[in-house]
This record gives sequence, C-alpha cells and structure tokens, in this order.
Amino acid sequence: MSVSYNPEFDPTGIEGGIDTNTMPWIEIKQAPGMRFKPLRASRESGWFSMIVQVEAGTELPTTVFLGGTDMMILSGRLRYTKGALAATVGPGIWGYIPANSRVEGIVVEETTEYQANYFGPVAFLGEDGKSIDSILTALDVLAATNTNGLTLVPNSLAECMQPRPAPFHGEPEPLAIAESEALGEVLQSNEIPEEDAFTHPHWVDTRPIPWIEFPGMDDYGIKILRVSEETMMSTLLVLHNSVAGPHYHLGAADFLVLNGAIGYRAGPPEGYGPGVWFYEPAGARHEATQRVGDEDLIYTANVYGPVQFDEGMGTPIAAVVSWMSYKEMADANDAPLVANVFPGDSSLLAWSPIGNSA
Ligand SMILES: [Fe+2]
Repeated sequence: MSVSYNPEFDPTGIEGGIDTNTMPWIEIKQAPGMRFKPLRASRESGWFSMIVQVEAGTELPTTVFLGGTDMMILSGRLRYTKGALAATVGPGIWGYIPANSRVEGIVVEETTEYQANYFGPVAFLGEDGKSIDSILTALDVLAATNTNGLTLVPNSLAECMQPRPAPFHGEPEPLAIAESEALGEVLQSNEIPEEDAFTHPHWVDTRPIPWIEFPGMDDYGIKILRVSEETMMSTLLVLHNSVAGPHYHLGAADFLVLNGAIGYRAGPPEGYGPGVWFYEPAGARHEATQRVGDEDLIYTANVYGPVQFDEGMGTPIAAVVSWMSYKEMADANDAPLVANVFPGDSSLLAWSPIGNSA
C-alpha cells in the first residue's frame, strides 16, 4: 500500500468524528414533526447521513425513498402498518429500505430517534398519494447545515486534509442514547422473551443474534446485518472489547457508538461514547483502536469496501476483509441477513407511479 498520497498527512482516524450530542435538532420543513442532525452530505453522489427524530403522534406523509436507505433504531417505537416493511420497530432493530420504495402508514408510537443513511433523495407525497409535495436531497442537508452553523464530516481523504472549520457553539441537544442506558442494555441482552422474538425479511432484530467471533481476534465479535453483492456495502454491529490492529479503509466506512467508549491514539482519555459518529473516507488509515473503560463497546458499522490490516505503517498486509468475508461468515453462522430488494409487490413504483403526469 502506497502512503505517498500525502506524506505530511498524519491521520489519527478521527478526522471524520462528530459528536452528535453537541448538535441541535433541525426541523425538516418537508415533514413537520421530523427533525434531524446532519452528519454527511455529498454533492458528488447525492448520499447523505443523519440522525432523525420523529415526535410521538406525528403523521408522516407517504414517502418515496428514491435511493436505498438504511436505519438503526436508537430509541422510541415506530409502527409500519402497510406493505413489505409492516412491523413495530424499536431500539436495536435495523432495517434496509430498497431504492424506489413507497412507504406509507407509519405510526409514531413513541418519540423515536434513528440513524439513517440515504443513498438518494427522499420524496414526500401529497394527500392524493401520487403528487410530490417536496423532495429532501443532499443539497437541502448541506443548506440546513450552513444555515445552522454546523459542520459535516469530510467526504474524502483530500477533504480530511483541509483544516476543520470551527465547531458548533450553540445549545447542545443530546441524543436519548447518551442520557439513558436503555439501548446499551438492549444490545447486551441476548435473552429476550420468546414472544418478542422478531424475524422479518427487511428488519433485523439484532438482540437475539449471537456475536460471530472475528477470525484472529479475541473479544471482538460481529453481527452481520446486510451484505450487498452489488455494491459490496456491508452493515455490521460490532462488539469491540479488545484492540483492533492498524488498518486502511480501502472503501469508506461509518460507525455510530451505541454503548461503551472507543479510544483512538489522539482522542481524549475517556474515549468517545454513545452518539459519536465517525466517517472514515476511502483510503483512511488509523492505528490501533481499543475499548476504554469496562463497558462493552458496541457500535454500528457500515463498510463500503474492504479493510486492509497490517502490523504498523510500512509492514506487510496481514489480512484483507471484504463483503465476501462477511458473506462467508454469515452463511457459516446462519445469520439472518435482510433482503436487498422487496418482492415484486405493489409498493414498487413501476406498479404505482408518482407524479401528476404519471
Ligand atoms: Fe477503522
């Protein structure tokens, strides 16, 4: 691996870290009752990431996800009453909504917070269920970020090397997971009542799934939630109680700390806890990372490409882990991966077009 990209760059691995607890909630004009904390928005791909909060009782408009969207429920409870997503989802449940899905009939039973990645814009439909009222794109996220004096994570290694703008100094509004142990307890409890057991083609209840031991590492387990053979993107839940060796992210990756704290070489001694989100752009390298304190360190991990491990800068490649490794591990352990597409039902836009002239 060449390190000549920029010899002066001394990465710590936290160039793309953002403590979402320090940020305010921003209203989504397109969907009253829905708020967000922006994390990343790309003018190149149109992808964006945010933490979303929907208030109990909010009536959400029928929504069309023009790109695929994934979400990890952090707190609260949502009931999807219609279509392929029909289910009640709460903390510890992760789902993938395939591109071009129409989603309607969501009941917000409790104020809910979730982290979501959007691989394309979201369209909110009018009451006729056909016309488009408004669209939320990466550019709206960028505009709201600028208006509110916030900073997004860098999208690329080149952006990482630029000086970071001043952090937000307004009133912080912490996530529910930073103020309550509830999610941590849920994630650490593999014993849930039989009647609560949850199996669904498009949602994964991460609670009852056993941790898969990561080859060659002690006290490091993963739950594999989705593997895309098309884009190589894989989603994992990680239990990281030991030291992970130095590595390059050959593809980008993002992480949200859900429980415990993670330590980086240049980070504060108490590490980074629940609600801290990291984006490591393609090509990022960092030295060993480890848990800080005694609590189980658990985080979500979306990996958009392979990770290449070594034993220190300039040492030979020790291992490369890619979607193929995750697929193999998932198959060997009967992991319940979510489906990457819906069955050919009427929620698909081809059968149910949108727009006034459709
Ligand atoms: Fe990493």
